[in-house]
Amino acid sequence: MRLLNWKGPSLAVFLGSLSALRNVHAIGQATCVSFNSSPSVFSVVSGGRSAPLFISEDEWPGVQRAAADFASDIEKVSGISPTVSNVTSSVKSSATPIIIGTLGQSSLIEAVVNHTKLDVSSVSGIWEAFMIKEVANPLPGVPKAMVIIGADKRGTIYALYDLSEQFGVSPWYWWADVPTTPNSEIFISSSGCSHGTPTVKYRGFFFNDEQPALQSWAMEKFTNGTGAALTGSPFNHFFYTKAFELMLRLKGNYLWPAQWSSAFAVDDSQNQPLADFYGIVMGTSHEEPMMRSIPVEWGLFGVGPWNYSTNAQNVYDFWVNGTIRAKPYENIFTMGMRGDGDLPLSETTNVALLEKVISDQRQILTDVFNGTNVTDIPQMWALYQEVLAYYEDGMRVPDDVTLLWSDDLWGNMLRLPIPSEFNRTGGAGVYYHYDLVASPRDYKWITSTQMTKTYEQLSQAVDREATRIWIVNVGDLKPYELNTEFFLAYAWNSSRWSYDNLDTFVSAWAQREFDLSSATANEVASMMTNLTRYNNRRKPELWNSTTFSLINYREAENVFSDWDALLNASTMIYDSLTPEFQPAFFQTVQHPILASSTLGKMWIAQGMNSLRVSEARLSANDLADQVEQLFEKDYDIKTEYHQLLDGKWNHMMDQTHVQYFYWQQPMADTMPPISRMQSKIQALPGAMRISPEGSAAAWPGDNPNQCAAGYSCPPPTITLDSFVPLNSRYIDIGAGGPSPFTFTATSNVSWLILTPSEGSVSPSNPEVRVEATVDWNQVSGVQAAQINFNASVPGQPFESTPAYFVANHTVAPSGFKGFVEGDGGVSIEAAHASRNTSVAGITWVELPGYGRTLSGITPWPRTGNDFNNFTAGSGPSIEYDFLNFNTINDGGNVSATLLVSPSLNSMGPDRPIKIAVQIDDQTPQTVAFIPPVRSGDASSAVGW
Ligand SMILES: *[C@@H]1O[C@H](CO)[C@@H](O)[C@H](O)[C@H]1NC(C)=O
Ligand SMILES: *[C@@H]1O[C@H](CO)[C@@H](O)[C@H](O)[C@H]1NC(C)=O
Ligand SMILES: *[C@@H]1O[C@H](CO)[C@@H](O)[C@H](O)[C@H]1NC(C)=O
Ligand SMILES: *[C@@H]1O[C@H](CO)[C@@H](O)[C@H](O)[C@H]1NC(C)=O
Ligand SMILES: *[C@@H]1O[C@H](CO)[C@@H](O)[C@H](O)[C@H]1NC(C)=O
Repeated sequence: MRLLNWKGPSLAVFLGSLSALRNVHAIGQATCVSFNSSPSVFSVVSGGRSAPLFISEDEWPGVQRAAADFASDIEKVSGISPTVSNVTSSVKSSATPIIIGTLGQSSLIEAVVNHTKLDVSSVSGIWEAFMIKEVANPLPGVPKAMVIIGADKRGTIYALYDLSEQFGVSPWYWWADVPTTPNSEIFISSSGCSHGTPTVKYRGFFFNDEQPALQSWAMEKFTNGTGAALTGSPFNHFFYTKAFELMLRLKGNYLWPAQWSSAFAVDDSQNQPLADFYGIVMGTSHEEPMMRSIPVEWGLFGVGPWNYSTNAQNVYDFWVNGTIRAKPYENIFTMGMRGDGDLPLSETTNVALLEKVISDQRQILTDVFNGTNVTDIPQMWALYQEVLAYYEDGMRVPDDVTLLWSDDLWGNMLRLPIPSEFNRTGGAGVYYHYDLVASPRDYKWITSTQMTKTYEQLSQAVDREATRIWIVNVGDLKPYELNTEFFLAYAWNSSRWSYDNLDTFVSAWAQREFDLSSATANEVASMMTNLTRYNNRRKPELWNSTTFSLINYREAENVFSDWDALLNASTMIYDSLTPEFQPAFFQTVQHPILASSTLGKMWIAQGMNSLRVSEARLSANDLADQVEQLFEKDYDIKTEYHQLLDGKWNHMMDQTHVQYFYWQQPMADTMPPISRMQSKIQALPGAMRISPEGSAAAWPGDNPNQCAAGYSCPPPTITLDSFVPLNSRYIDIGAGGPSPFTFTATSNVSWLILTPSEGSVSPSNPEVRVEATVDWNQVSGVQAAQINFNASVPGQPFESTPAYFVANHTVAPSGFKGFVEGDGGVSIEAAHASRNTSVAGITWVELPGYGRTLSGITPWPRTGNDFNNFTAGSGPSIEYDFLNFNTINDGGNVSATLLVSPSLNSMGPDRPIKIAVQIDDQTPQTVAFIPPVRSGDASSAVGW
C-alpha cells in the first residue's frame, strides 16, 4: 500500500534545542540561576544575606507589586527576606543591589542607562521583552548591580517571575500547592538571561462554565457565602488576585472572566482596576461585546430585548456605558453580537445588520476614546459558528480588527488564515477549547486533551500567522493545570517546542513541581501521555459499556488492565513522595489518573456484566459488585480531593460525570444499570458454561449469539492462524449456578495445547480461563480438532460440552519483510513504514504520542510546497509492505481503513485536506476525509 499526500498546507518547524535538565527548575526557558557559587555569578542570597532590591517610586504600581512577590519568593527559597526600597539615581550602596525597572517608565533605569550607556536595544520598544544582566557602576554610588529591565510593565513583571520560577517557586505554588525547594544560596550568572517578544501578543484563558465546581469553591473560599449583591457571583477581587498572579507567573496577559452567573465589572467594582493594576488585559468572551457581560449584565441593566433589529438604541446605550467604564484600562474589545444565551441571532438577522452593529460599535469607540484613532484600540471579532459562515459568505470587518478563528470546540481548528489573509493590520488569533459545554456532549470533568494534538493544531496557527491573540477555554482551570501551562508556554515561545520534544516539557514540569529525579520525571511524562491518550480515545463523558469491544481482540480487557497499570505506576510514585509533595502530585497527576481509571473500569465492568448475564454466567454477579464498588469509589476519590489540605479545594471536583443522558451534564452522578443472575439456582443447561473468545455466546443451551437461529445451534468453532499476534485463543469455563465442579479440557489432536487442561470452578471462583495454543510444527494447511470440556458436578450427571478448533498454518514467502495477514487483516501503526519518500523538502514525520495508540504521522513542514497542493501520486509518500493470503489477483477484495485524526479543512472548503491511497500498481484513490463544507457549517449546532 502506498499512501500519498495530496495536501499542500502548512507548518514550518521551529526545532527548539533541548537544554539539559538542571537543578534549576524551568520549563524550556534559558536559565541563568544556580545554587552554588562560582566565578562570574551575582549573589542574590549568600552567607545569610540577600542583595537589596532597588526600584523607583515612579515605577508602574503593578511592577511594585510584583517586586514585593519577588522579595517574598526569595525569602521562601532562602529564608532571607531582601529589603525593597524606592531609590533615586543618587543612592549610595555598599551592598550590590538588584535594580528593577521598566524602560520608559522608571527614572532609575533611565539613570542607569544614561550613566552606563547600557545597550538596551534588545528590549527597547519590544513588546514584553526583558533583559537581566550584571552591570558595573550602574550609578555613581553603586559599584555593581544585577539590573532587571523590562521593555514595558509586563516585560519587567515576567523577568521577575521568570527568576522566581528558576529560584524554585512554581507558578502553581498556590493553585496546586507545589512546595518550594529550599536553597540557602541563590546566584544569577553575570551574563543573565533575557527574552524577546513572545510569539503571541495576547495570551490567556477563559474561565467558563464555572458551575458547579469553580463557582461553588470560590463561593466558599472568597465570599461570606452569598456572593455579589446583584449577581450572586463569587468572582470578586479576592478571587481575581489569585487568578491574575497565576496568569502573570505563567507569562499570560489576557483573560476572559467567568460569565454565566457573573458580570466582571459589576460583581466587584475593584475587579476592573485590579486587572489593570496587575497588568492583565481584560476581554470578554466571543459573545459579549464592548466589555459588558451577557447574559447577566444585560439582564440587570438592559432595557427590552437583546435584539439589534428591534431594540438598537437601548443596546447601543448599554455598550456606550461598557466602553466608558473600561476606558481607563487595558482591554481588547469584543466586536459583533450573538443572540442571548450564546445562540445564533434570529433567522431574520442578516449580515447587513451585523455590519451595522460593528460600525456602531466603532462609532462608540471613536466617541468614547476621544482623540484616539479607533484603529489603535485593540478589537477582536470571533469567527464562531454562524459568524464564521457569514465571513465565508463575504462579510468583512475593518482591517485593524483581529479575526479570532475558533476550533470546532473539540480541539480541531475549523479554519486558519490563508496567505491572502496574512497581511491584515489586526492580524488573527485562535480560540481553543480544553473544556466544553455543547452538543453532542459536555466535557468539563477531567483532562482529556493530548498535548501533541494541541501542539499539532496550534503550530499550524503559528505558521499561518494567527498569533495576535490566543485564548483557551479552561473551564474551572483545575484539573487542566498542565494543559494550561503548555498553552501559555507555547504562546510565549513557540520556537522552543516541536513535535519531537513535547515529552521534555512534561518531564521538566514534573521535575519542577515534584522535585523528582529525571528518570521518575520521565515516567510521569509517559503517564500523563497515557492518561490523556486514554481519555481522548473517547472523552470520558461519552464512555459507555460498549465503547471498547467486549469480544474482539480482548480490547476491553486490555483497556481495563492498561488503566490498572497506569494507576499502579502513579500510586507507586505518589506513595514514595514526602507528605509535603503529595497534595500537588495528587491534584495534578494522581487524582486525574485515579478518577479516570475508576470511571473507565466501571464502564467496562458494566459491559462485561451485561454480556455475562445474557450468557448465564455467574461471574456476572462479581462484575455487578465491581460496578457498584467503582461507582462508590468515584465518590470517595472526589471526597479525598475535597478534603485535601483541610478542604482548600472543597467543591473543585463537584462536576458530575457518571452517566450522561444527553449533551448537558447529568444533574447527579448515577450508576449505570447492572444485572444479577439468580445465584441460588442452576442455569437451565447445567453447571458449566463455555464461552469462547470472539463470541458473545456461551454453550450449552440457547443464546441469540450462538447462530442465526438462536436455538439448536452447533457447538462453537474457534479459529486461529499462525499470524494472529497473541498466537492463542481463550475459552472461559464458567459457573452456571451454585454447584462447584471440576473440569477437564481435552482434544483429539496432539498439536493443540490447552492451559490449564483441568481446574475447578465454584461460586467463589466462578471462572477459569483456558488458553488454547497450537504447535505449528505439527500443522500444515488447515486442520481441525475437537475439544471436550467435561465437568464433574457432585450429585449431578457427567456434563460434556464440545467445541471445534480450526488451525490454519499460513506461511509467508521466505525473505518477506512487512506485515502479514492474521485473522483476516493486517493492522499497521502509521509510523511503521517500509519506505518514506520526501518531495520538495516535505517528509512524513512521526508525531509521538499522537492519537489512540502509538503515534501519528503528518507531512512536514506544513507550509511546504508554497501552500500548493500536490497532484495525487506526486507528493511525499509513505509505503507499507504487506502480505495477504487472499490477494486481489485471486479475486478477493481488500479494504483499506485509514485512521485519521479529525483535522479539519483549515485552508477553507475549496482546499480540503485529501490523501491518496494506492495499492500495488493500481490507480491511486483520493479521499477527502472531511467533506468540503463551509467551516461555519462544520461546527457543532450548540456550543459555548
Ligand atoms: C515606592 O513608591 C510607591 C509609589 O509612591 C509606593 O506605592 C510603594 O509602596 C513604595 N515602595 C516601597 C518599597 O517603599
Ligand atoms: C538621561 O539622559 C537624557 C538625555 O541626556 C536626559 O534628558 C534625561 O533627563 C536623563 N535622565 C536621567 C534620569 O538622568
Ligand atoms: C467577610 O466578612 C469579613 C468579616 O466581616 C470581612 O472582613 C470580609 O471582607 C468579608 N468578605 C467578603 C468577600 O465579603
Ligand atoms: C449608563 O450609565 C448611566 C450613568 O451611570 C446610567 O444612568 C444609565 O442608566 C446607564 N445606561 C445603561 C443603558 O446602562
Ligand atoms: C472630545 O474632544 C473635543 C476636543 O477636545 C471636545 O470638544 C469634546 O467635548 C470631547 N468630547 C467628549 C465626548 O469628551
